[in-house]
Amino acid sequence: MAEPISAAPRPLVARASRQPLSGASRVPGDKSISHRALILGSLAIGRTRIEGLLEGEDVLRTAAALSLLGAGIARGGEGAWTIDGIGVGGLFEPEDVLDLGNSGTGARLLLGLLASHPLTALMTGDASLRRRPMGRVIAPLSRMGAQFRGREGGRLPLAVTGAKEPLPIQYRLPVPSAQVKSAVLLAGLNAPGETTVIEPQPTRDHTERMLAHFGARLSVEEETGGGRRITLEGQPELAAAPVAVPGDPSSAAFPLVAALIVPGSEVRIRGVGVNPLRAGLLESLAEMGAQIAFENPREEGGEPVADLRVKAGALRGADIPAERAPRMIDEYPALAVAAAFANGRTRMRGLQELRVKESDRLSAIAEGLARSGVTVAVEGEDLLVEGDGKPPAGGATIATRLDHRIAMAFLVLGLGAREPVAIDDAQPIATSFPGFVDLMKGLGAAIEEPAGCL
Ligand code: S3P
Repeated sequence: MAEPISAAPRPLVARASRQPLSGASRVPGDKSISHRALILGSLAIGRTRIEGLLEGEDVLRTAAALSLLGAGIARGGEGAWTIDGIGVGGLFEPEDVLDLGNSGTGARLLLGLLASHPLTALMTGDASLRRRPMGRVIAPLSRMGAQFRGREGGRLPLAVTGAKEPLPIQYRLPVPSAQVKSAVLLAGLNAPGETTVIEPQPTRDHTERMLAHFGARLSVEEETGGGRRITLEGQPELAAAPVAVPGDPSSAAFPLVAALIVPGSEVRIRGVGVNPLRAGLLESLAEMGAQIAFENPREEGGEPVADLRVKAGALRGADIPAERAPRMIDEYPALAVAAAFANGRTRMRGLQELRVKESDRLSAIAEGLARSGVTVAVEGEDLLVEGDGKPPAGGATIATRLDHRIAMAFLVLGLGAREPVAIDDAQPIATSFPGFVDLMKGLGAAIEEPAGCL
């Protein structure tokens, strides 16, 4: 297992490279898919083999929690893991607190799993996760019979006692959230009858795809107005199944945007997941004039995958509709950096969910851009970035607020800005993208430890 994030902050600085970025690379495995592979492998009968698992802090926390719940989880080599599952309904009461670190996905999905097992578990996380709302999963999971005791607002640490006789429910998501959808479906696995989730706006469907891959019976129907109704038959026998985890498009976003903004760059990123419900950034960048080619499209482990080739070029501002937000919710830090180099105004609409991510990302992005000399405003739930097609000033130190994507986004900004950009702490990057700095350096990026005091 990786070392937990240490307390000592690790500042880094990024400056404009003398040469363009070039070369080919692979980003680590998809974080969402990695969590789900571990969870469903733990519930399946038999040995599941996973290739390409993301060995980031978040996923390792989920693996450790599942081990405490009785799954037999072992690492065979880089990204190669085996899980001896214990069957739906087979979880043991954990002897210790489940500490999910920085991971909202790990916490919410596991609360779903625990909600329909008759045991009591205690859950906590780091300072960022302890601030994030759990009420959004507590509400439906309580209807299924689980009991929660937690801090005000349902925040971690909390205790959950799962239902002895879980009730299947029909639940309409009040916010577009794949985590909430997945928590209800995972709880529904150990409830008799049909559990239904209705999502007015489609969110990433990795849980549905992987449930089918492990042999669960579920149906997905389109609703009028573009939503979806997902119905799961409870108490299936899940069978172990191999999983090949594609590269994470949310991680690929950073080298992609870096290659767009560093003049003369051309970069290829191999084996990136291009699930349409994750592809909003690619659509948005294309509208801004980016040249990104999909090469060698294929399917791996039930997920669409391609190699992405990107060339630097002029970008123009665009109006990014709120309906697209669920398909690119983690990509706004990267998109906002691209917008800072574009000519004209980019309006990113409907970003209220960014306020409850690893940090209040809406304000973290706006504050970091303003410090870097970019004209930026928050109007209601919209983010406005105004560029003139020239590199922004940079010359700032950015507070990363325990948020891996804020850390990476502002290092990328520094690669194209007129003056270097520093971040106060690169440690959070390990939650989703271990090896980020080395990968970027391998493409020619100038990222290093600062020489003097920040
Ligand atoms: C995720 C869903 C999204 C996303 C997160 C991963 C998932 O969160 O931001 O990084 O794996 O289901 P929400 O469900 O809160 O939108």
